[in-house]
Amino acid sequence: MHRLLKYLKRLAVAVLCLVVILAAIYYIPFPPPHRVPTAVYQTSDLKFPKDFFWGASTSSHQVEGNDNSNWTAWEKKNAARLAQEAPSKFSNLAIWPDIKAQATNPQNYISGGADNDYNLYPEDVQLMKQLGLTSYRFSIEWSRVEPQPGQFDQAAMDHYKNLVALLRQNNIEPFVTLWHRSQPVWVDQQGEWENSKTIQDYVAYVKFVTQNFGANVKYYMTFNEPALHLVGGYIEGVIPPEVKSLKRGQAAFANMMEAHRQAYGAIHTLNPDAQVGSTQAMQLGSGAPNTILNMAAASYFDNYANWKFLDGTKDTTDFIGIQYYSPTKYQVTLGGKSKVSFKTFNDPNASVKSDMGWEVYPHGIYEVITAAYNRYKKPIIVTENGIADQNDKLRAQYLADHLYWVSQAIKDGVPVKGYMVWSLLDNFEWDKGFWPRFGLVAVDYANNFKRTIRPSAYSYKQIIDNNR
Ligand code: GAL
Repeated sequence: MHRLLKYLKRLAVAVLCLVVILAAIYYIPFPPPHRVPTAVYQTSDLKFPKDFFWGASTSSHQVEGNDNSNWTAWEKKNAARLAQEAPSKFSNLAIWPDIKAQATNPQNYISGGADNDYNLYPEDVQLMKQLGLTSYRFSIEWSRVEPQPGQFDQAAMDHYKNLVALLRQNNIEPFVTLWHRSQPVWVDQQGEWENSKTIQDYVAYVKFVTQNFGANVKYYMTFNEPALHLVGGYIEGVIPPEVKSLKRGQAAFANMMEAHRQAYGAIHTLNPDAQVGSTQAMQLGSGAPNTILNMAAASYFDNYANWKFLDGTKDTTDFIGIQYYSPTKYQVTLGGKSKVSFKTFNDPNASVKSDMGWEVYPHGIYEVITAAYNRYKKPIIVTENGIADQNDKLRAQYLADHLYWVSQAIKDGVPVKGYMVWSLLDNFEWDKGFWPRFGLVAVDYANNFKRTIRPSAYSYKQIIDNNR
């Protein structure tokens, strides 16, 4: 009896300790992460090597218009729902009164003619020239080039060859993304990246493109932000292929890595001078509040998003494409119907925010560039960085502040070879439609896609001119 009592007492103490530890993990917040304040610097501090690539990025589905990709099909099914959900997602944004009519209109969620860049590309190349760009990152629309399995459309490929020829005539280096989210409907129908047959199909498509470009294209990116495909497409299940299964997502992700490795070999065989990489959406996470549990979630997901794909492909990558916009907050909630729920969001208290509510934190680009370089020791190219800013109030400062930290990374010995603004043009921002305005160049959708260079684009040109 006495021993039993003693045992029960010990058990009670152990349970109590466990409860206290769990409560501490769940409730006690650590201070928020240290934020390096926006730097004070002179224009002359923005120093870059002479051969630095100054550019802007786009992707096929977001600018070309009228493709038959899986996204086009998805939009038709989801436009009404997205319009209905808009108030609950975006009414907290400062620009809500300006965008309300557009964001609640289903038409906003249909890419349709997008920017009509498929027809207006000669004008768009002239805009690049006017802005002094020396590189342009764009993607090939797989659904145009291979509309049916194994049937390649030479005319569609010739379109991209013409674009590359025009870029070369204007001394603009083409950076080709081979997969930027959109893909043929038949790829989705065969189970997309979960099906290992998609690896062979993708590699055949990559060979066709590489053969066609020959020596005219040197820089290739196999995949754009593959981890976001895993998160959005397979974990949250809110974008194609709308699956909600981590296990299935991991299988798809592993096949994408294998597709990268095989494509790397195929491109190098066909073009020994090629430089091949991929681009990653770099996360800079912290907990909100910064409890041990939230911090652990931030570190787990950052690791997955930033490094998993690169760790699996590091021996087959010539450079690393870094895409950075804003830090992320992570919050884990215990209890409720699903026992554990999890959300990521932007710091609502950030002092400077984009139209989309994304915190502006320029030093973050230095943090992610140096982390990637220290881990892999490969050249870095910033393949996306930019801001949704419809009134062009923040963009010039945003670009200069981020470029300052890129120049500091170079000064500290990191071989950063180029910087591409997202985006050359306002464009179709996936499940948000047309209201986010990321362009160096504004597009007037109601007026025949008229392009107007924004003042911030001239500030960017000034930095380019100072360095050439
Ligand atoms: C990236 C993506 C781009 C663009 C950008 C702005 O994640 O690669 O296509 O949408 O974000 O949100």
